Amino acid sequence: LADIREDLAEELISEQQLHDKLGELARQIETDYDGRDILLVGVLRGAVMVMADLARSLRRHIEMDWMAVSSYGSGTVSSGVVRILKDLDTDISGRHVLIVEDIIDSGLTLSWLRQNLISRGAATVEICTMLRKPDALKVEVDVKYCGFDIPNKFVIGYGLDYAEKYRNLRGVGVLAPHVYGGEE
Ligand code: PRP
Ligand code: MN
Ligand code: MG
Repeated sequence: LADIREDLAEELISEQQLHDKLGELARQIETDYDGRDILLVGVLRGAVMVMADLARSLRRHIEMDWMAVSSYGSGTVSSGVVRILKDLDTDISGRHVLIVEDIIDSGLTLSWLRQNLISRGAATVEICTMLRKPDALKVEVDVKYCGFDIPNKFVIGYGLDYAEKYRNLRGVGVLAPHVYGGEE
């Protein structure tokens, strides 16, 4: 039986740290949104774990909806143009939208998405991301709730994939080079 944890070079953030951080963020969100309805919008597929855990950390009513988006352009170079693969089922005009993400890398996906949701007439659009890579940012994104700033390394787990795998790791870690044929 191959244990996927053996493909980690290093664990950056443990399950416990993720859980504790979500508790902190949830208390802030409860305070900030006192008296206002919240629509959590998760960005498929990476945000599934954060969404599930953040939603359950909140001790108040929320609604959830989902979008799936994809960057145009081939290969690893993101163009900043985003295509909607699955749209919201909710009319968000007048709603308080909180986008839930696993990671902000270049920032291109979220800066586009925020503008898109604002243009639909949302009352407010804020962002909650578990991870952010400050050294990879190509466009400034105003993030209200951020779990951890991490180094510009390829990370997996807690929703983050490498070739669609490793999303189900409980913690966040760095992929071992042997997995993609690199040097250890
Ligand atoms: C990843 C991640 C974010 C986005 C961040 O999603 O989950 O959604 O990239 O990148 P950016 O800040 O450079 O735009 P991906 O497109 O890999 O899809 P996935 O969530 O299905 O893995
Ligand atoms: Mn994603
Ligand atoms: Mg991905």
